[in-house]
Parts: sequence; C-alpha cells; structure tokens
Amino acid sequence: MRVATLVLDASQLLTLAGCDGPRAGREKGSLGLLRDGAVLIEEGLVVRAGPRERVLAHPLAKGAERLSAEGRVVTPGFVDAHTHPVFTAPRLDDFEARVSGASYQDLAARGGGILWTVNGVRGASESDLTAGLRRRSFDFLSCGTTTIEAKSGYGLDLGNELKLLRAIKTAGAMGPLEIVATLLGAHAVPPEMNGRKDEYVARVCGEMIPRAAAEGLARFVDLFCEDGYFDLSDLEKVARAGAEACLGLKVHCEQLSRMGSLSCAVKLHAVSVDHLDCSNEDDFPALAASRTIACLVPGSNYFLGKPYPPARRLLDAGAAVALATDFNPGTCPCWDMRAILSIATTQMKMTPAEALVAATINGAHAAGVGATHGSLEAGKVADLVCHDAEDWRELAYYFGSPKVRWTMKRGRIVSKPS
Ligand code: NIG
Ligand code: FE
Repeated sequence: MRVATLVLDASQLLTLAGCDGPRAGREKGSLGLLRDGAVLIEEGLVVRAGPRERVLAHPLAKGAERLSAEGRVVTPGFVDAHTHPVFTAPRLDDFEARVSGASYQDLAARGGGILWTVNGVRGASESDLTAGLRRRSFDFLSCGTTTIEAKSGYGLDLGNELKLLRAIKTAGAMGPLEIVATLLGAHAVPPEMNGRKDEYVARVCGEMIPRAAAEGLARFVDLFCEDGYFDLSDLEKVARAGAEACLGLKVHCEQLSRMGSLSCAVKLHAVSVDHLDCSNEDDFPALAASRTIACLVPGSNYFLGKPYPPARRLLDAGAAVALATDFNPGTCPCWDMRAILSIATTQMKMTPAEALVAATINGAHAAGVGATHGSLEAGKVADLVCHDAEDWRELAYYFGSPKVRWTMKRGRIVSKPS
C-alpha cells in the first residue's frame, strides 16, 4: 500500500471546490482560494483539501510523506475538453498558404485541410498512431493538463475510425495522461463518398456508433455541423444514434457560419456545444437554462486570425463556459492551456477567475468527468499542478513561457519540466 502524501506550503491553493454541476452565474469565478492550504492524498485520491490545520488534523496526515510546494501556486490539473490529437503530421503547407491568404475552402480544394490528415491516418498503423499520441501526451502533462477529451474524425470509414479510437484507448490505458474518447465520424464526408453525404451519415449512425459503443471505445459522439459538411438533420440523426448507444453528445457548433446548431444541440441535451464563433445572442437564454456547456476553443481563432467567440456575452447571459485547446494539425497546433487562458483574458475579456474555472472544473464537466475531476475535494482524483507562480493570476498574465514546476496525476508526480 502506498503511504499518504501531504502537499504543503503553497502560496495559494486553489481547490475549485464548489457546487456540483457546471459553474455559471454567481459561481462562474469561484476558485476556492486558500492562502495556507494543504492537500492530503491516498491511493490516488484526495482525502482532504482545505486549511492546513484542518488537513493536518486528519489521522492519515501524521505518517504522510510531505511534498512542499515551496511557496508556489497549486491548482487542479487542467482538463482540456476538446482535442483532435491523433494524426501523423503537421499541416505545414496549409499553414504557409493560409498566411499568404488562402481560405479554408482554398486549402481543401488544393488537397489540404481535413482530408490531407485523413490520408495520413489511413496510411498509418494503429501502433504508430498510438505511439504518436503517447508522445504528445507528455506535452500535455508538461503544460499542466492531466485529462483530455480526444476525438477521432481523421479516419472517415469504419475501420479507420475504430483504429483511431483504439489508439486513443491504448494510449489512455498506458497513462499517465487520462483520455476520454469521442467518435467524430461525421467530421467530413470521405472522398470516396463525395456527393453521398446521406449514405455516409447512415453508415456513421448504423455502423460506426454502434460498434464504437459495443467495444467500449467512445464516451461521446460529435459532429461538424457546418455548411458543406453536416446539417441539422444529420445532427439529429447522430444524436439519436448516440443516445441509443448511451453515448453523450458534443457538437462543433456555429464555427464558420450560423446554422442553428446551437439551439438544436441544446434541445438534444448536448453535453457541450463547441466553438460558437458565429452564435447568436437569441440562443443564449435557452443555453443558460440548460445543462449544456459552451466549450470555447479560441486557440483556433488566434491561429486562423478570426474574431473570437462571444465569451463575455455567454457568461453574462448565465451560460456555463469551458475553455479547451482544440489541439489539431489544421486549425490549432497548441496543447498549452495557459496559452488559452492568455487569449481568453486578453482578447475575450474573461476574468482570470472565470478562465481558470473554465479550464478546470467546467472543462471536467464538458469532458463528462466533473463528478470526479476538475477540483480538489475529498474523493476526487488527486490531479494537481504546482505552477512556478506566487499569485494565481500569473497563470493568465505571463504568456509564451512555461510555468509548470510539476504535474501530479492520481497522486504521483508525472512531469517535472523545470
Ligand atoms: O475543431 N472544425 C472542424 N474540426 C477542427 C479542425 C480539424 C482540422 O482542420 O483538422 C476544429 O477546428
Ligand atoms: Fe474541433
């Protein structure tokens, strides 16, 4: 049996303890900040987190191994609730062409875009994809991310989508980064089915979703609801097939144009609606009244040079907001949640507290693990980060430099970049 661990001497401990569900309204910036806090951990779980004296009074504290945070900030690990991390190569030609003025459509027309990545994935073995994801998993950990949601979506046929999901499952089982899998079969119509979208959606719903669920390979389904990709009727079909297979729903919503997917996804009880760049305020009250989380991924706006999603208006309307990287080879080659905190505060005017809530506990809810992850409370997993900062606001303030001292996953230090 492992001995208990006691984390002490943090300049500030942010437990993010609070209400059970996604945080919104009055709770949208509550951090559970303690100046003399401690965390007691046993068997990978938080036994007690709170004021030092209260934690030291626990019977397990006496024999515990002590770990000093040396006067630095300690938070829960970041939960990155939207990533596309399984691919073979960066899209550097697209990057170069886009910088010179090519649009998303131009890139697709010259053989770039999502389908370029699909070609690479189809030609790769499951073990190569697994090894690539495992290598990337250490990049996430070194930036303080302890759990990610990871989408398939670069296979676009049954065999290749399952191959991606198996790579995700294997890399997740190897750890230490925890990975929640999402089937994104409806990411694009594959080239061999050009012009036969309905037939492809029937395959996604009739073959991919049931197989992925039966093999325990996915927890969510997702769909790219966008002009030229998939529409509202496809969204309803995918949501229905997902619900029949007991998979939660996530939707790439209103990213490049307003399709009406936000209001549709809320009616379908989506766990999260992601992107929302072109969303309309008229849809915000229904979103705020629901349990659906607005998962914003402004790293892609930064990288594409596009206007940012309306975080302030969503928050002011009472919606629960999560922040994620959207790490992918086309629109956001960034896995660092602190870069996202910087963009969210300076460009979208989220307060540092709202941004940190969005990157931890609300991210956990958007990834379907809010009951066990995202805050430091008794019974939750002991995923902690010690940042090289004395004041928690530095996490969003400094940009362009690493700030993690160590990352702990389930009670064990798994990354120590500095
Ligand atoms: O979230 N919008 C669709 N999917 C991704 C981009 C994926 C890619 O370009 O490879 C996104 O931005
Ligand atoms: Fe995405």
